[in-house]
Amino acid sequence: MNTEKLKLQVQQRAMDAPNKVPHVLVFPFPGQSHINAMLKLAQLLCLGGLRVTFLNTQHNHDRILRFNDVHSSLSRWPGLSFRAISDGLPAEHPRSLDRFLDIFDSLKANTKQLFREMLISGRSESEPVTCLIADGVMTFTIDVAQEVGIPIIVCRTASACSFWSNLCIPRLIEEGEVPFQGDADMDGAIRLVPGMETFLRRRDLSNFLRAKEHTDRAIQLIMTEALNTCRASSLILNTFEDLEGPILSHIRSRISTIYTIGPIHALLKSKLANSLPSTSTTCTSSSSDLWKVDKTCMTWLDSQTIRKSVLFVSFGSYATVTRDEMFEFWHGLVNSGSPFLWVVRPDSVAGKGEGGHISAELEEATRERGFLVEWAPQEEILAHPAVGGFLTHSGWNSTLESIYAGVPMICWPFFGDQQINSRFVSEVWGVGLDMKDRSCDRETVEKMVRELMEGKREELHKSSDEMTEFARRCIREGGSSYCNLERLIEDIRSTSS
Ligand code: UDX
Repeated sequence: MNTEKLKLQVQQRAMDAPNKVPHVLVFPFPGQSHINAMLKLAQLLCLGGLRVTFLNTQHNHDRILRFNDVHSSLSRWPGLSFRAISDGLPAEHPRSLDRFLDIFDSLKANTKQLFREMLISGRSESEPVTCLIADGVMTFTIDVAQEVGIPIIVCRTASACSFWSNLCIPRLIEEGEVPFQGDADMDGAIRLVPGMETFLRRRDLSNFLRAKEHTDRAIQLIMTEALNTCRASSLILNTFEDLEGPILSHIRSRISTIYTIGPIHALLKSKLANSLPSTSTTCTSSSSDLWKVDKTCMTWLDSQTIRKSVLFVSFGSYATVTRDEMFEFWHGLVNSGSPFLWVVRPDSVAGKGEGGHISAELEEATRERGFLVEWAPQEEILAHPAVGGFLTHSGWNSTLESIYAGVPMICWPFFGDQQINSRFVSEVWGVGLDMKDRSCDRETVEKMVRELMEGKREELHKSSDEMTEFARRCIREGGSSYCNLERLIEDIRSTSS
């Protein structure tokens, strides 16, 4: 069947179903960060009265079923359903950071066709999909949407500043600014990213740009996906105007309709708290953890009697450290004297090195002041009164969750958007310290933790509290994120009809 005929059929079907509740299909990239943000978006759309199908890869769908009580939470979300699609990778594939290009390749080579077939066969269902919201790092979905004639809105779950810097890569390549390698002056200024001329350095750009040739596959991937995102007519971003306003104005020169609805986790919580009693008591944001959450740390946190005394440590869902780095961090945390709650994912220690001897003193001090878990209820932890600092990898969800909770950060970025996020946290927003590219030795870790929890404590808490107030204002009724969500829902209704 040719494309034009196909489009007519899909559009005819949509018209045959007048006044149907719009049916949105939400499709995130198969990573924890993306799933968390876009599932919360899906739930917000449900609260707005839309019918939503959330599409995970089969691998992650199975993990979420394994580690979350999805069925009971789904019963509380009548308008939300889950579907799964193959990512095309063998079950034993690690889907880890060092193999992340395999994921992108397989999604394009395998999942794209399955996605197309799903939408075509779906048109004969009682409630065909009338609008797509797809992840901005999977722009093959735009091709499929245009082919089958279904409107699409793109959603990027990383920061606006990282997205904008990726859009500027072609100019940076043209002017010979990137790529660069280790012998370059990493503190050298980068002046060709509009809005960042006064503070951006080489080391603050994505680590993917630390390469030999601009034809490097990771560079081509982040650049192409960013440029392709601009082919969509509208873009959803998990950020807020008071945080990234200046950067958003640059992005609006490339995509005219932008819905900033962040911090999305807080907007959902606020909506649930203010929704009808029948909804608020039944609907809770269903969790989408890819690991089993260990809540025993909450009891330990409750036992910490001094407010803002605990350092929370987590490096997100992909970053890994070597055994040697792990040991240096461990000694640094213990030597800092602060109580610490540390997430050590089962797959987070990789690579060479034997680490070191676990002395009786190290064990004793950890028993006394530390608590380790494999996966934590991070949002709850950051909201806990005993938590006063967050040693993070600067993943965007973690950054937004920490900003909203008013918890200052130490940023030790690993890859992707994390480098630029950590620069904005320290240099632009003043809500944390940048530990980027610092050697991972126990002295540095101890020094940074003492600076965060003691030396610069007052100054950082003051600026964090101010940014928290901005975030709270944006998600309140009449705030920019609140209003943008309303506008998004109305626009979905009108495109769907
Ligand atoms: C990273 C990059 O930051 C992201 O931009 C990229 O697209 C994917 O890889 P991730 O490492 O998952 O993302 O970090 P982050 O964006 O911070 O998301 C992690 C999510 O997991 C957060 O929502 C956090 O609350 C949650 N989390 C983390 C837990 O619930 N428990 C934990 O123990 C750790």
